[in-house]
Amino acid sequence: MDKLIINGGKRLIGEVSVSGAKNAVLPIMAATIINPGQYQLSNVPELRDTLTMMKLLKTIGAKIVFNNNKLSIDTRFCNSYVAPYELVKTMRASFYLLGPLMSRFQCAHVSLPGGCAWGPRPVDFHIQALKKLGANVKLENGMIITEGKLKGNDIAFEISSVGATGNTIMAAVKAEGLTKITNAAREPEIDSLCDFLIKMGAKIKGIGTSELMIEGTEEFNSDIDYNIIPDRIEAGTFLIATCITNGDVILNNVNPKHLTIVIDYLKKTGMSINVDKNTIHASGNRRIKPINMDTDAYPAFPTDLQAQWMALMTKADGPSVITENIYEDRFTHIAELRRFGARIHLKKNMALLNGSDKLKAAPVMSTDIRASASLIIAALSAKGKSAISRVYHIDRGYENIEQKLSKLGADIHREED
Ligand code: UD1
Repeated sequence: MDKLIINGGKRLIGEVSVSGAKNAVLPIMAATIINPGQYQLSNVPELRDTLTMMKLLKTIGAKIVFNNNKLSIDTRFCNSYVAPYELVKTMRASFYLLGPLMSRFQCAHVSLPGGCAWGPRPVDFHIQALKKLGANVKLENGMIITEGKLKGNDIAFEISSVGATGNTIMAAVKAEGLTKITNAAREPEIDSLCDFLIKMGAKIKGIGTSELMIEGTEEFNSDIDYNIIPDRIEAGTFLIATCITNGDVILNNVNPKHLTIVIDYLKKTGMSINVDKNTIHASGNRRIKPINMDTDAYPAFPTDLQAQWMALMTKADGPSVITENIYEDRFTHIAELRRFGARIHLKKNMALLNGSDKLKAAPVMSTDIRASASLIIAALSAKGKSAISRVYHIDRGYENIEQKLSKLGADIHREED
């Protein structure tokens, strides 16, 4: 297993291009199953997770060509509706196949995803929504088996869920009649999925709001080109890394609108940030003001940047509180941040930080994608040589992370264990 070696203390300076969004491309790849056709996606990040989704699509019978961030998917000859445990267990987003398989085959066998490093992460909303659309659902040998011809219905989610909203939309686009989703997720990745589905021929209204109306149709286009939106979480990670190293970085290929709240919070810490259409210029300040932060559904501060924000606040000028409202036990990074010397106290879903911590290099271990990013951020600012093991977590969600950071002046390289 590879590890990252980081010699901390360098300022990040220069320009970096943000990759396509992992959480946008995964449901879009799944959506190509809905209608037999040929799809060309560009700005597709080369990640462990996108490669896993390609393998899943191949098991369904799709033909895949991936080269230079361009992905061609031919779903004309798909002939299977089974997403096996061996692949699903490695990536929870595999569950996105459920809706598309139901649309295409009126039948789906998708392995139940397990828990993950920070808790159980259920899929009950996905299943309840499919039942409301008329599917018969049963669990056999760890597989969710759904079948039936779907009919539009009203679906109200008790909590806004990105995955359940995406799956329900993809199940509803071919269902007979009208589906209304209330308390739908409003994340940019859901908007992007809707844009893609509309290009395919789907009829969706209310994009960007929490109420979506989907009118089922059978008329779909079979040759689609689509450009994947920039990854706001990768961009936010680079902004936080710039802040902690008192750097000066220009991010290219980014959508600043998707980062409004993150930029606001970083400005409050004393950072200077200027945005243009597709670029963000950020420069740090020697002192970082402590700012309390709460995560919540978009447009609030994303839970996927909570761990990175925590690394930043360990170096802030005083105490701060971080409240996690999406996944109440998403805190596996705390034990590892403490190894750098961070003083963090956990009280239910609130992390109480001392701030003013002098981080020192340490050997640490990644536990999930975003936790690994927070360890990289801490290591970039810690004095001395840190080693971050289990790097495969970071490879699931960050494209060429060490090349991008090296280009900005970080002293980072990968070693085999
Ligand atoms: C997606 C993102 C993940 C991000 C999360 C929250 C992808 C591939 N992953 O995950 O990076 O951290 O959104 O922004 O896009 N819930 C239930 N039952 C369900 C579904 C969800 O109780 O059936 C709860 C979850 O436990 C959580 C909340 O709803 O508390 C929101 O989760 P959700 O938006 O569904 O997260 P994911 O789609 O899994």
